[in-house]
Parts: sequence; C-alpha cells; structure tokens
Amino acid sequence: MEPSHATNGANPLRPAVVVTGASEGIGLAIAHRFAAAGHPVLLIARRPEPLAAAAREVKSRSGGAAHALPLDVIAPDAAARIEAELVRLGLYADILVNNAGVGLGGPFTEHDAAGIAALVDLNVRALSLLTRHFLPAMIARRRGGVINVASLGGFAPGPYQAAYYASKAYVVSLSRALASEVRGTGARVCVVTPGPVETRFHARMGADTAPYRYLMRAMSADAVARATYRGWRLGFRVIQPGLFTPVMSLLMRVTPWLILVPIVGLLLGARYTRKDR
Ligand SMILES: NC(=O)c1ccc[n+]([C@@H]2O[C@H](COP(=O)([O-])OP(=O)(O)OC[C@H]3O[C@@H](n4cnc5c(N)ncnc54)[C@H](OP(=O)(O)O)[C@@H]3O)[C@@H](O)[C@H]2O)c1
Repeated sequence: MEPSHATNGANPLRPAVVVTGASEGIGLAIAHRFAAAGHPVLLIARRPEPLAAAAREVKSRSGGAAHALPLDVIAPDAAARIEAELVRLGLYADILVNNAGVGLGGPFTEHDAAGIAALVDLNVRALSLLTRHFLPAMIARRRGGVINVASLGGFAPGPYQAAYYASKAYVVSLSRALASEVRGTGARVCVVTPGPVETRFHARMGADTAPYRYLMRAMSADAVARATYRGWRLGFRVIQPGLFTPVMSLLMRVTPWLILVPIVGLLLGARYTRKDR
C-alpha cells in the first residue's frame, strides 16, 4: 500500500501521532503527552486488552481522539496494516514514535537464538522498516517526522545486555544519519536516549536485580515523555531526558572503551532474575 496522502477520496485526512509499544511504560506516557497537546493518537501494542484500556485512559484524560491497533510490529505487513487503519480512521501518520523495544539480560551465550532474533527484529528491523515506510510521505508533505526511542545504552557496548546495547547503538546511529539526510525537507528525525526508567522493562529482561537498578536512579516514564515532547517541539535531534543522562552520555563518549566497557559490565552484570514472562 502506498503511504497516505492528504486526502482519502473526498475527505481530508487529519495528522496523527502513531506510537508503537503504547500500552504501558514510556510509549503510553508519550501518547498521553501528545494527546494532551491536542494530537489524535494511534496506540499500538500486541495484547489487545491492555492496549484498549490504555487508549481509553488517554482519551478520557485528554478529551481527544485516541485509537488502539493491536499489532505485532515485527509482522511483515505491519506498516501496511498501520497505514490501512489510519486511512480507515481518516488520519495519516504525521509523527511516528518508534518506541516498542525489548531487552535481553544476562550472558549473551545463555540467550536462546529465538530471543536474540526477536530483539533484532523489533529493536532494529521493525523500527527501520516503519521509518522507511512512513518517512517519504512526511518529506513529501514537508512536515512531521520520526521519533526513535533508543537508550543511554546506545552510546557504549554493554556486557550482559550486549545485544540490547548494540541494537540501541544502531538506533542512535540510524536516527542521527537520517536527521542529517532529511535536513531542510521540513520533515525531521530525532532520537531519545533515556537512562533507566521505572517501567516493567527491566523485570521482563531479567535485570531487576542487576547492580544498575540499585546504583542509578530511574526516571519516571512521564518525565521521559515530557522531555521527548519538549525536545521534539524545540527541534532537537538527540533528546536526552533529565540532567543525569546528558552528563552520563558525555562521560561515555569521552572515556576510552578499555576503561568504560568493564565498568558498564559491572553495572549490568552480576545477578539476574527469572524473566517474568
Ligand atoms: N525502561 C527503561 O529503563 C528504558 C531505558 C531506555 C530506553 N528504553 C526504551 O524505551 C522503549 C520502551 O520501554 P518501556 O520501558 O516503556 O518498555 P515496557 O514497559 O516493557 O513496554 C513495552 C511496550 O511495547 C509493547 N511491545 C513489545 N513488543 C512489541 C511488539 N513486537 N509489537 C508491538 N508492541 C510491542 C508492549 O506491549 P505488548 O507486550 O502488549 O506488545 C508494551 O506496550 C523501549 O524501546 C526501550 O528499549 C527503556
């Protein structure tokens, strides 16, 4: 299916914000933030019930339009299904927030192959293909753009979260390169790089008892969403929520990897809990 344009037959399409991984955590907070600013939002996640509840919550809090599309974004036809749902709703993707992501905690050699493949499919492949699908129409309209959610972990190799950190390094690199490619077109690409955030993400990857959970203060998902919205409005290419994140990312970029990587490994390593699902 072709990317949506400004009309659907006789009816003009309205700009919307599409958020993947929006049933909870950072994605839900970002959906709240854009909805509160008056944007219609399309929330996407796999499990229909929590997603529908999240969309109801966004709608009742903002008083605006919030729609739910239950979808696994790693499905080969994910972009086409999002496009079709937007057209059905009389909307087009003005801003795409690629937020859905998964982590894998523990030694790389202990992960099963399917887990690694699922991480790469979601954090790297789906994010790239959704961006590829929606960005050309944004450029053609000379407005909107893509917000990719990476991580502070995208600035360094991460022993005991090796595949996760590597996937986020890809997201940082891709986003910064695309931000440069689309410069002057009217469309934008930016990347958000939060440090630890208080969501169920850490428990899901079995990392809730890793040392960084005790040593680094986690931000709230709301604070990350506020920073994301503000950074997007101000035209930032890299949005580093909070005060701690920019300082840490600077230190990570100036410290030689010979020193940095073992320190990151100490923060991420040690004890791992059973994955909760
Ligand atoms: N939490 C942190 O400390 C932290 C820090 C830095 C960056 N980040 C990044 O921020 C993003 C969001 O993290 P979070 O902490 O909010 O995660 P979370 O609480 O685990 O929520 C993940 C969301 O993504 C959805 N999701 C997972 N797989 C999906 C798929 N294949 N297709 C569609 N939706 C999917 C989940 O719903 P379903 O399970 O129903 O699909 C859920 O709505 C991730 O990219 C993560 O890497 C998180």
